[in-house]
Amino acid sequence: MTDIRELRKVVDRFRAQERKAAAAVNLVPSENKLSPLAQMPLSTDYYNRYFFNDRLDPGFWQFRGGQEVAEIETELARGHLSRLARAPYVNERPISGLSAMMMAMAGLGGKPGGTVVSIDAASGGHYATADMARRLGFESATVPVVRGRVDEQRLRQVLCERAPELVYLDLQNSRHELEVSRVAELIEAHSPHTLLHVDCSHTMGLILGAALSNPLDAGAHTMGGSTHKTFPGPHKGVLFTRSPELHQRLKDAQFTMLSSHHFGETLALGLAAAEFRHFGKAYAEQVIANARLFGKLLAADGFDVTTDENGHATSTHQLWVRIGDAEQTDRFSESLYDHGIRVNVQVDLPGLPGPVLRLGVNELTFLGGREAAVHALAEEFGHARVGARRDGQGSRRVREQYGPPFYFAEFS
Ligand SMILES: Cc1ncc(COP(=O)(O)O)c(C=O)c1O
Repeated sequence: MTDIRELRKVVDRFRAQERKAAAAVNLVPSENKLSPLAQMPLSTDYYNRYFFNDRLDPGFWQFRGGQEVAEIETELARGHLSRLARAPYVNERPISGLSAMMMAMAGLGGKPGGTVVSIDAASGGHYATADMARRLGFESATVPVVRGRVDEQRLRQVLCERAPELVYLDLQNSRHELEVSRVAELIEAHSPHTLLHVDCSHTMGLILGAALSNPLDAGAHTMGGSTHKTFPGPHKGVLFTRSPELHQRLKDAQFTMLSSHHFGETLALGLAAAEFRHFGKAYAEQVIANARLFGKLLAADGFDVTTDENGHATSTHQLWVRIGDAEQTDRFSESLYDHGIRVNVQVDLPGLPGPVLRLGVNELTFLGGREAAVHALAEEFGHARVGARRDGQGSRRVREQYGPPFYFAEFS
């Protein structure tokens, strides 16, 4: 039997942790925050509803719960996402990046036994992609990426020898923008029937905010990914294309692979996209400026920040910082956590064996962090390293420096 006192304790715990989370500074590059407006649909009745009738066919209202707000998905979400990506065809139904990946591969990978090429996980590709291809019945081949550039020799070889159905570029761990146009050129030259998909889960917000170039302009046939990393949306996924035929292929795959597309979250995505049309460009530029400044400040303070020969730490939202061995890194992470500053430790970043901090300033920026906040954050890192100021107030000092957020605060 459930004891109500036990449940009260759980609720108290949630409430206490909510207060902490609301005061925290989160530097996990694969996470972001929903704006108050985008958050709203998640606590409405629509969270509970299915919505299938996306053609708004008057004779097809088999599930009626979503009927009154249907066009928030079919017009608002699709319309704003479409304009942000400059892609007339949008599929807003995947429920995450991996869900979008599965649909893209199933829809574009051709017949079983064909080859899907992805980025070698050891050079920054997503850990699941090659195995996903195999589980869907395809052969998998991988290509390395160095500093955002696909190894041309290896790609040329794979294109000539395997004539793959699909090149699926899934760069996850990268401080560099992915160079897409050269890949498109090589495909055109050596295997013109091959489709090119760019999974820009991590950099979605930077691309839709036009701070990084749009893979569709660079020759990708389709692109997509998560909507909750640099894009400040709900945990969802999206797929874009300029081709009606490829859109239909993606739609067919989605129809079989997904029934509940999480209607409440899809409405949240629509509102997040509408706000992003207003704030996205300034936000995306500020993310990159903040990441660069943070790298510079940490390096100047003696932190081991990964940089190129020219001293550049990043051209994206990600910054990689080595603290020491596993114990030292864990101690450092814990010490920041005690201050309300949450970092991400990775052990498999390309070329960096062992534990490394993979930091992202996307959420901090979305909430209003600019140069002053980044300076305050760098100071907190310095304190944590030497064990100074153990007052648990680090995140408060950083948040005090926040300016206006990159969303409509009037809905708070
Ligand atoms: C390229 C790429 N694809 C897919 C995913 C998985 O996304 P999700 O966690 O939303 O399923 C990620 C996550 O980092 C990613 O970087």
